Amino acid sequence: MFKISNLNCHYGVIQALKNVSFEIEKSGIYAVIGANGAGKSSLINVIAGLIPATSGEITFNGTTITDLQPNQVIKEGISICPEGRKVFKSVSVHENLLSGAYTMKDKAGIKENLDMVYEMFPRLFERKKQLSGTLSGGEQQMLAVGRALMSSPKFLLLDEPSMGLAPKLIDFVFETVEHIYKTRNIPIIIVEQNSEMALSIADYAYVLEVGEITLQGTGKALLDSDEIQKKYLGA
Ligand SMILES: Nc1ncnc2c1ncn2[C@@H]1O[C@H](COP(=O)(O)OP(=O)(O)OP(=O)(O)O)[C@@H](O)[C@H]1O
Ligand SMILES: [Mg+2]
Repeated sequence: MFKISNLNCHYGVIQALKNVSFEIEKSGIYAVIGANGAGKSSLINVIAGLIPATSGEITFNGTTITDLQPNQVIKEGISICPEGRKVFKSVSVHENLLSGAYTMKDKAGIKENLDMVYEMFPRLFERKKQLSGTLSGGEQQMLAVGRALMSSPKFLLLDEPSMGLAPKLIDFVFETVEHIYKTRNIPIIIVEQNSEMALSIADYAYVLEVGEITLQGTGKALLDSDEIQKKYLGA
């Protein structure tokens, strides 16, 4: 379904990803954890076509997507919720959500997705006419996740959806990710600093260290691992 082979990514002389390879064969929740600067966002952004790979290959459902532009990646069915709630601040909540469906021509489908997002986040429905930049941080995060769902994705990439949120909202974000998975049955990659929460909902997880995958296993196996406990869970 989704395969990354020997992926490398550089920013000038800095190598952010080093021969990253993995394969996702069925839908599920896949976590990527790692310290600041490990290369998590670089991985997500290369997949989404936002930054170029220096070498390697990415395929999705048999199509090579390595060198596609972001809008072409979305057309292939891959949707990204980028780090830091990059919503369009000067337009309404409603318009922001519609912008997530810009690759879709099916009007009824767009309406259906909107209804689904508003049902998932009633707070966004109440504020649909509000300027997005005036939403609270948590509301902007809901909007960023909701917008990523507007294109009817077959594969969802979430880059630190819980960043900067209060504990209650963090719980809500993880519950939402599980809800999205249960209702859509699509593969989801979730990048997180919040390793414990991410591993606890993940079917399978990868650990990135300075651009390399150094450890992988089921969410439960990694949660139980001494190395993970020490390095990422503060044991
Ligand atoms: N635009 C850029 N120009 C130069 N170096 C960059 C750029 N973006 C990222 N890097 C570097 O690449 C490395 C990986 O960064 P990346 O953002 O992928 O890490 P991350 O795992 O997402 O970290 P965080 O948890 O802090 O978000 C870091 O050393 C970072 O400084
Ligand atoms: Mg990041």
